[in-house]
Amino acid sequence: MQDFKGKLAVITGGASGIGRSLAFALGAEGASVLIADVDQAALDATLASLSELGVSASAQICDVRKSADLAALASKAFDKLGGAHLVFANAGVAAGEAGPMWGYADNDWKWCFDVNLWGVINTINAFMPRLIAADEEASIMITGSGNGAFLVYPDQPVYSATKAAVQAVTEALYQQLQVAQSKVKVHALFPGPHIVDTGIFDSDRVRPSDYTKAADAPDSGIKTADDLRILMESYGASLETTHPDEVAQTALMGIRDSKFWVMEWNPKTRSEVEKRMQSILNQTNPVPPSLG
Ligand SMILES: NC(=O)c1ccc[n+]([C@@H]2O[C@H](COP(=O)([O-])OP(=O)(O)OC[C@H]3O[C@@H](n4cnc5c(N)ncnc54)[C@H](O)[C@@H]3O)[C@@H](O)[C@H]2O)c1
Repeated sequence: MQDFKGKLAVITGGASGIGRSLAFALGAEGASVLIADVDQAALDATLASLSELGVSASAQICDVRKSADLAALASKAFDKLGGAHLVFANAGVAAGEAGPMWGYADNDWKWCFDVNLWGVINTINAFMPRLIAADEEASIMITGSGNGAFLVYPDQPVYSATKAAVQAVTEALYQQLQVAQSKVKVHALFPGPHIVDTGIFDSDRVRPSDYTKAADAPDSGIKTADDLRILMESYGASLETTHPDEVAQTALMGIRDSKFWVMEWNPKTRSEVEKRMQSILNQTNPVPPSLG
């Protein structure tokens, strides 16, 4: 797809961070956007800013854990707004796990899997039948993470496990649609090249009441990219960050170029991935990767 003008883009997790930047980038290219999120206040604020810029935008509360919410979102996109050509399965959370994994709150595992993995599955289930039935050029972009898809960091096994599963689902979806010679393209977005400065560190702000964790359950205490930077500096390391607007531009370029792997590598991560692949091929034991 080369031209986004007049196309409708549906973005889950569209109220903040990368989803929000995608909405502005697509709006600037003349697309209409339907942003979906659980955070009503952030949704209202993003919608107001998009509308101020003259973007044709609408918003819907949608909890990606719930298949009925995704069905309602797909219905709005196709039955009320004329049909979507771009779907971004982007909503995601980080649980803030810390310490040995056998001490984690069950709710950290459950919440992260329900949003990060089931959110993607529910989005695929709600939108794929409609995208295929429309029989037009369309794209579904799934936000994964190198943390899980390519590398395993010892301090974030919950998040890594969800994103490893997301990668398997995304890649299998791509292959199924290739076999079917579908007009629907699948893209795997890996935000970067560095840690993206978004609200992900403070995902607890949208943690639902049914996933509460005990006040004394292990938590990293990292609520912003700056918190992480300070921690890394205390170990003598440094942290570079990426603005989510940069990720949105990478994403649009990836769609234009019909790419499956959509990312900007940084040399450090690339070398860690090479090391991991060599370790698998040569059957040498894993070594923890350093942060890119
Ligand atoms: N920030 C990074 O460095 C980074 C790196 C790799 C991948 N990602 C991925 O990028 C995606 C976007 O995250 P972000 O970094 O922009 O964080 P963010 O917190 O700024 O945005 C995530 C959005 O998802 C929404 N959300 C949370 N739970 C939801 C639910 N149940 N239903 C619907 N919406 C929900 C939040 O309200 C928020 O608006 C996520 O999938 C994340 O895992 C981020």
